[in-house]
Amino acid sequence: MTSSGKKVCFITGGSGRLGSEVALSLAQLGYSVFFTYNRSREKAEKTLDRLRDFTPQSAMTRCDVSKVSAIEQAFELFSKQFSRLDLLITSASNFYSTSLPDVTETQWGDLVDTNLKGTFFTMQIGARLMQKQPFVSRIITMTDISANLVWQQFAPYTASKNAVQHLTRVFAKAFAPKILVNSIAPGTVTINPEWNDGPEEELSKMIPLQRIGEPEDIVEAIVFLTKSRYVTGQVITVDGGRILR
Ligand SMILES: NC(=O)c1ccc[n+]([C@@H]2O[C@H](COP(=O)([O-])OP(=O)(O)OC[C@H]3O[C@@H](n4cnc5c(N)ncnc54)[C@H](OP(=O)(O)O)[C@@H]3O)[C@@H](O)[C@H]2O)c1
Repeated sequence: MTSSGKKVCFITGGSGRLGSEVALSLAQLGYSVFFTYNRSREKAEKTLDRLRDFTPQSAMTRCDVSKVSAIEQAFELFSKQFSRLDLLITSASNFYSTSLPDVTETQWGDLVDTNLKGTFFTMQIGARLMQKQPFVSRIITMTDISANLVWQQFAPYTASKNAVQHLTRVFAKAFAPKILVNSIAPGTVTINPEWNDGPEEELSKMIPLQRIGEPEDIVEAIVFLTKSRYVTGQVITVDGGRILR
């Protein structure tokens, strides 16, 4: 616990549409939350205000996770403010369509350096801290159902998420029994304005449970993983049955 008696969560991408709701739910559950944002400072400040209603110790910092030095700086700041790390969630991610024949090196770097390289080094630095602690801690990577689907218009994104699921298993084995490492693969929870699959009603028809997800659906899976003592190296799909089609 912190001096205030709270567990501590470090989450990247806390300014995201889903990431901010996850951060808020964890604060409501009593975690002190340290989160990162990159470009969305205003949104991050609003999120921090909401978190502090529940856990005044919560804090944030800017961090471009595609740069290892930025991740190191974020963890240095974190360590100055918090003396323990119970839960690390890697949520920072870029998501947009790319035409397979025309994918540019810049798009590849933007998607893969953020989603894969950023997640790897966040997990590596977080695990170094966790390894030294005298208690079991947890890492949750945020991936996507598309990690194992063939979405031709999203190849760099899906490849990065598939690789993160692989890393989840590697870290789970490498850091057992000290750190439990799992992934959550959501279906659609928030509708991306540039997304092509049509409005929410059309999408809901493709989902056996007949609705898109809500942040609470993801939070339920996170809560399960924070309590479980015997699940590691797994990917939990939370998609209303969409991949059953
Ligand atoms: N929402 C969904 O329906 C859904 C579905 C499947 C999977 N997921 C996964 O769930 C996670 C959370 O999703 P979300 O809805 O919160 O995503 P989002 O709204 O697109 O937000 C993305 C987050 O990643 C951050 N980010 C982007 N590039 C970054 C970089 N280079 N360095 C650091 N941070 C960076 C953004 O920060 P700034 O805005 O501050 O730049 C933002 O906080 C993601 O991993 C996503 O792939 C979400």
